[in-house]
Amino acid sequence: MAATYTPRDWASHPPLIAPAYRSTVLRGPTRPLVPLAQSLSELTGPVYGHERLSELDHDLTRNGARNGAPLGERIVVTGRVLDEDGRAVPDTLIEIWQANAAGRYIHKSDQHDAPLDPNFLGAGRCVTDGEGRYRFYTVKPGAYPWRNHHNAWRPNHIHFSLFGPSLATRLVTQMYFPGDPLLELDPIYQGAPEAARERMIARFSIDMTEPEFALGYVFDIVLRGRHATPMET
Ligand SMILES: [Fe+2]
Repeated sequence: MAATYTPRDWASHPPLIAPAYRSTVLRGPTRPLVPLAQSLSELTGPVYGHERLSELDHDLTRNGARNGAPLGERIVVTGRVLDEDGRAVPDTLIEIWQANAAGRYIHKSDQHDAPLDPNFLGAGRCVTDGEGRYRFYTVKPGAYPWRNHHNAWRPNHIHFSLFGPSLATRLVTQMYFPGDPLLELDPIYQGAPEAARERMIARFSIDMTEPEFALGYVFDIVLRGRHATPMET
């Protein structure tokens, strides 16, 4: 375990208030942040154990199935979790959530006029292996409107939450898909620093594509440092 964590590299992350992303104006801090000195409690505090994970937690094509398979294009999303020095982060919990293939979440605040899928929950989790690797099976999420501005549509994306070695290293971000024309119009994606944005785009991989089954995407995540994956504001 590292003795200390490097401070967040804010040049890798979006500003806490980005006016084009309207809700940040309401919820962003209006005073400067107060840095908290790291103490032993960040290193020794409880972290989420993985003893409660079940066999299907990482497989969104099966973990919400009631009477069949979810509709949509099946995909594999895999990659490695790395720390600020490029070292693998093993045994860390990753949680994901996403819209179904039609662009609809199972949540009462999502009233988008697109169908729910009775066989798709849209949430999953897994723990990285000894080399920091993870793997999810799911369907490609659809784009959806979000009323941030006139005719606003979110690009296809999957939300990620990573705990890292301790709560002090927690990262919440979004994974996008290569070639999506909505990326250049999306204030959330565009809110991240230009040099860091592409770290949120997964790479299509024919090597990770499973024949006759699912397209493969690789998404590596860096928790801290100059190469950090941008944090969601
Ligand atoms: Fe979303």
